[in-house]
Amino acid sequence: MGYMQIKHFKTYVLLPLPLLRGRLPLLLPLLLLLLLPTGSLARNPDAVGRRGMVVSGNLMASRIGLTILRRGGNAIDAAVATGFALAVTEPRAGNIGGGGFMVIRLADGTTTTIDFRERAPAAAGRDMYLDGNGQIVPELSQDGVLATGVPGSVRGYALAREKYGTLGWNTLIAPAADLAENGYAVGYQLHSDLVEYEDFLKKYEATAAIFYPKSRPLRLNALFKQPDLAATLRRIAADGADEFYEGETAGLIVRQMNASGGLITMADLANYQAVERPAVEFDYRDVHVITMGPPSGGGIALAQILNQLERVDVPDLGYHSAGHVHAMAEAQKRAFADRTAYLGDPDFIKVPVQELISDDYAARRWGDFSELWATPGKDVANGDLAGAYESEYTTHFSVVDRHGNAVSVTTTINGLYGCGVAVAGAGFLLNNEMDDFTIKLANRNMWSLVGGVPNLIEPGKRMLSSMTPTIVTRDDKLMLVTGSPGGGRIITTVAQVISNLVDYEMDIKQAIDAPRIHHQWLPDIIQTERFTLSRETRQQLARMGHVVQERDGIIGAANSIYIDPANNWKHGAFDSRREAGAAGY
Ligand code: GLY
Repeated sequence: MGYMQIKHFKTYVLLPLPLLRGRLPLLLPLLLLLLLPTGSLARNPDAVGRRGMVVSGNLMASRIGLTILRRGGNAIDAAVATGFALAVTEPRAGNIGGGGFMVIRLADGTTTTIDFRERAPAAAGRDMYLDGNGQIVPELSQDGVLATGVPGSVRGYALAREKYGTLGWNTLIAPAADLAENGYAVGYQLHSDLVEYEDFLKKYEATAAIFYPKSRPLRLNALFKQPDLAATLRRIAADGADEFYEGETAGLIVRQMNASGGLITMADLANYQAVERPAVEFDYRDVHVITMGPPSGGGIALAQILNQLERVDVPDLGYHSAGHVHAMAEAQKRAFADRTAYLGDPDFIKVPVQELISDDYAARRWGDFSELWATPGKDVANGDLAGAYESEYTTHFSVVDRHGNAVSVTTTINGLYGCGVAVAGAGFLLNNEMDDFTIKLANRNMWSLVGGVPNLIEPGKRMLSSMTPTIVTRDDKLMLVTGSPGGGRIITTVAQVISNLVDYEMDIKQAIDAPRIHHQWLPDIIQTERFTLSRETRQQLARMGHVVQERDGIIGAANSIYIDPANNWKHGAFDSRREAGAAGY
């Protein structure tokens, strides 16, 4: 019997042809029904909204963003409110003591970005984390306030609201302050972090006072109130961002610095400015990608990975076959080699952005790709040096409003709970972002990314980042808002989410949940999540010259929104790898 195949919203329906013969008028309503997008997704999104959606690393924070959308705020307002809420609900990464990046696409198609990355204090120097013999003392750039860069989040959110928001500053901060004051039930992620990192966090008095009442980790489901943080948020709400940088909060930060051997002064805080910069934009097959430029290396590396992958018939390769993993790893390692050689703070060095993201450059870079063999890491090196080490504990959130404005934010205090030190009397943790600088040439940072010359420490400079908040359009219509935590793994996570959607036509939940691989040039290995590749595939890759290593941990956590082109509904999908929440209406 012959069959006719009809694609019914990502699933295929086979209809027996003899049955159709002569019965078409009768069967027409059935056929039309099959063409309707009835939600037969392979995996359901976590929330679907007709108007707006917020997906973040915490459900309470997403709901606060949603409340702002419902009250008539736009996506920028909701993003600012969600950012402040995460400082209360996700202390491992949400923050006012760190920094980040915001990518914006307004409903009229205008794109821009807000850079609120931390900066090195004026007293910082190239060798500040080396001992007398020129050897690195890793604790200095990771543990304690010498590791802290001048925080950028508060001025970043203020700039975004001033230029693109619609609601009052106080309105956007009040829900976070209320939550800090009234408290919330401790969730599993926070509780288990506090058990696991007890030795690290209890070292610091103000931190211990917040998270270890009676010297014990906050219990699961215990009511967690943060009165000092609530008071700080209320001061910022009442007096504006300048309060954080020049007022009482600034004074508390500097007092903490002086008490614990940090460098940040009142002048460093007062001089900090967030900066609006143009987005990095490029096409990948039939979609257009809008992402973050320097001082993030994320957007450029994302462009390089996808531009190289475009030279391969990806859909033709079996998903996670040796050929597929080989192509992804080869594209990734070339992009990461360039990250080390070329990328840093654009206010200090000239970054050849347009050249690096061009198709011509991708073609040249791909010139020595072999379908058969892995290219050794040393052969793809560009410039002086190789990769650096970065932390995984950033957080990402995505917002879309009813007008079609989209905001993608990735924010961090770098390591889990930053440098471990909370500001006494102010109730928030400080970052250890200085570790993202090149501490010593060719050294690996916390994320094993290799440090290059453009990212050497200089006073006032922003440290190179991998954060890659990203927005994707198709036919000029909003399609995807995404991003991830994960240090260098952020970039490869975002690349795989986009490729999964575009090349393999996965739905958003599949695209996010699919296991991931990661290659960052150095170390010259393909890392995979557990259960990603079969033994046969790993053996095939080994025969090609790859070293494949299953890691215990996860790769990324892409909290995303997909916009259904059929009806413009927003599909919120969080990454099951971490605590997160989607809220739409
Ligand atoms: N601290 C991680 C990053 O900025 O990439």
